[in-house]
Amino acid sequence: MVLHGFGSEAIATFNDMRHAGIEPDEVSFISVLSACVHSGLVDEGLRFFNIMRYECKIEPKLEHYVCMVNLLSRSGSLSKAYRFIEMMPIAPNSTIWRALLSSCRIHHDVKFAEKVAEHLFELEPENKGSYLLLANVYAEAEKWEEVKKLRDKIRVKNNQGCSWIEIKGKVNIFTAAGNAHPQAKKIESLLKKLRLKMEEEGHCPKIRYALIDEDEMENEVALCGHSEQLAMAFGILSLPRGKTVIQVTKNLRVCSECHEMAKFISRKARKEILLRDSNRFHHFKDGHCSCRGFW
Ligand SMILES: *[C@@H]1O[C@H](CO)[C@@H](O)[C@H](O)[C@H]1NC(C)=O
Ligand SMILES: [Zn+2]
Repeated sequence: MVLHGFGSEAIATFNDMRHAGIEPDEVSFISVLSACVHSGLVDEGLRFFNIMRYECKIEPKLEHYVCMVNLLSRSGSLSKAYRFIEMMPIAPNSTIWRALLSSCRIHHDVKFAEKVAEHLFELEPENKGSYLLLANVYAEAEKWEEVKKLRDKIRVKNNQGCSWIEIKGKVNIFTAAGNAHPQAKKIESLLKKLRLKMEEEGHCPKIRYALIDEDEMENEVALCGHSEQLAMAFGILSLPRGKTVIQVTKNLRVCSECHEMAKFISRKARKEILLRDSNRFHHFKDGHCSCRGFW
């Protein structure tokens, strides 16, 4: 393995230096520890860390601890890494906790990830990256309820998406939270039925969160709240007899899940949906959209 070669090389250079009588400083320890991280050389890393502390009498800095936490946790020793942090004589910063959380993701340890995330949320309540990371841990474990809860938490910190629909001259506004509407129960139950049917027909709603990235989190996709789904469902429920066109407006870009849902409704419920989002106009009919998937 190339990385392994690189690690061995860095270590060999380090050893050569020492044999030549050159005393390593804290920077050379950072390089050699990083090399161990990249090559997964856990025992060597621990050995160097101890040499630094006890032979060279260099007090480890945060940078060294970041390396050690990465080293231990990536190899799967999550609790060891956790204990390592607890025993640090200096206060761990968020980079250290995030390193551990990333490893929890790699090793699919949801319980541990939650525990670690708590530290991050406390240290940096405004940092969306931590929520994002935990959301991905949940998503990869297919814990969609938890993903949703987290997204709701973040949504509060963000601009809300909202959609509106005019029915009989009255504008009905739906936000992500959604349950403010007097018909919220009916709307939810209709959406549930629709989603179930979609699943039966092989639309896989799970895909939607499988890759949550920063962009999506920043944008409306992950944060959609699917207010347009609420508006569309309300449209179906309150459309006057004989009318088949539902007209919905959204303040943000429509998300792909809602886009799928609109196509589905147009086919299943035989309704035309005119959806104006922040980008363009979508006309859904017979299971197709005028945007042909480009928006
Ligand atoms: C935490 O400390 C490390 C090492 O000093 C530094 O590289 C990193 O930027 C710090 N993280 C934060 C969020 O300040
Ligand atoms: Zn949506």
